[in-house]
Amino acid sequence: MEKEIKNLKETFLKEIEKAKGGSCLEKIRIKYLGRKSQITNLFSQIPSLPREERGSWGKQLNILKNLIAEKIDQKTSQAPRQEEEIDLTYPAVSPKKGSRHILSSVTKEICLIFKDLGFDVIEGSEIEDQWHNFTALNIPPEHPSQDAFDTFYLDFPTQDEKSGKILLRSHTSPSQIRIMRQVEPPLAVLSPGRVYRPDVVDATHSFMFYQIEGFAVGEDISFAGLKGVLFYFARQFFSKDVRLRFRPHFFPFTEPSAEVDVSCFVCATKKGKKKKCGVCKGKGWLEILGCGMIHPNVLKACGIDSKKYQGFAFGMGIDRIVMQKYQIKDIRLFYENDLNFLEQFPI
Ligand code: PHE
Repeated sequence: MEKEIKNLKETFLKEIEKAKGGSCLEKIRIKYLGRKSQITNLFSQIPSLPREERGSWGKQLNILKNLIAEKIDQKTSQAPRQEEEIDLTYPAVSPKKGSRHILSSVTKEICLIFKDLGFDVIEGSEIEDQWHNFTALNIPPEHPSQDAFDTFYLDFPTQDEKSGKILLRSHTSPSQIRIMRQVEPPLAVLSPGRVYRPDVVDATHSFMFYQIEGFAVGEDISFAGLKGVLFYFARQFFSKDVRLRFRPHFFPFTEPSAEVDVSCFVCATKKGKKKKCGVCKGKGWLEILGCGMIHPNVLKACGIDSKKYQGFAFGMGIDRIVMQKYQIKDIRLFYENDLNFLEQFPI
């Protein structure tokens, strides 16, 4: 027994010395500690030994067994991971592909539709001043319609008295001002981007969302032209047989002004509408944007001769039309980075 223990210990120590890598160590573990190992065999011989010797051999075998286990563990923890056998024929894990966010791809889709009509795409500035966001748009400082738009003011020093305080824009309309002050008419521009409002967040409101502003200025711009442009867009974007409804409305920066609804593309057909439609709530119409003829005061603020030139403008909420088109019930889904939601739109 003594000799066997000694030999076993020596061969084990030699083998563990040479062993490299996890799988090799695992083989050694099975060989020396497994059910069919020599040590298990030696343990099984103990009952056949003289009674007074059994205790001491058992003890020695346990010491050897612990030593083997300890050495294997030690070596395993030292073994560099990359030495594990790599099966080069195994299929590779393909990297996850990202995709455009649904709001970005719809923005792009809308821009392409208007490009066909000759509109240029120019992004405005997300950080604005009071003059561009309100005053130049015919919203004087004390005007009540500032309330709904009153937004997040930034602690930046104001540039001059005329500009007023610095803020996150509450709509994309100030890009009308920025562009009209720089570019001579005739012009037709589409300006998408983020806007901010102090709205309480719920399923249909967010303190930040996306809008697209569109406007055209020239010597022969009319409300009929505005209707034609919006009708072309709605047919391309929603469906070929969509109908539009212009409801008179008030915006300080357009006169006359209207809100525009599209016929519900889920339930509204020539035969009527469904009472229980989840998209339009049985109304048969969906509001998509605000629009109108640019107010002469706005043209004047941009140094444009309002006797010679007219313009139309419209502004639509991208989030809202995406929610309508894809029947999304909660605006917060756009901003939570939940891949289960976002991956449904692999564009
Ligand atoms: N700026 C308006 C809003 O945010 C939308 C609008 C734009 C209305 C252009 C008329 C003309 O509600």
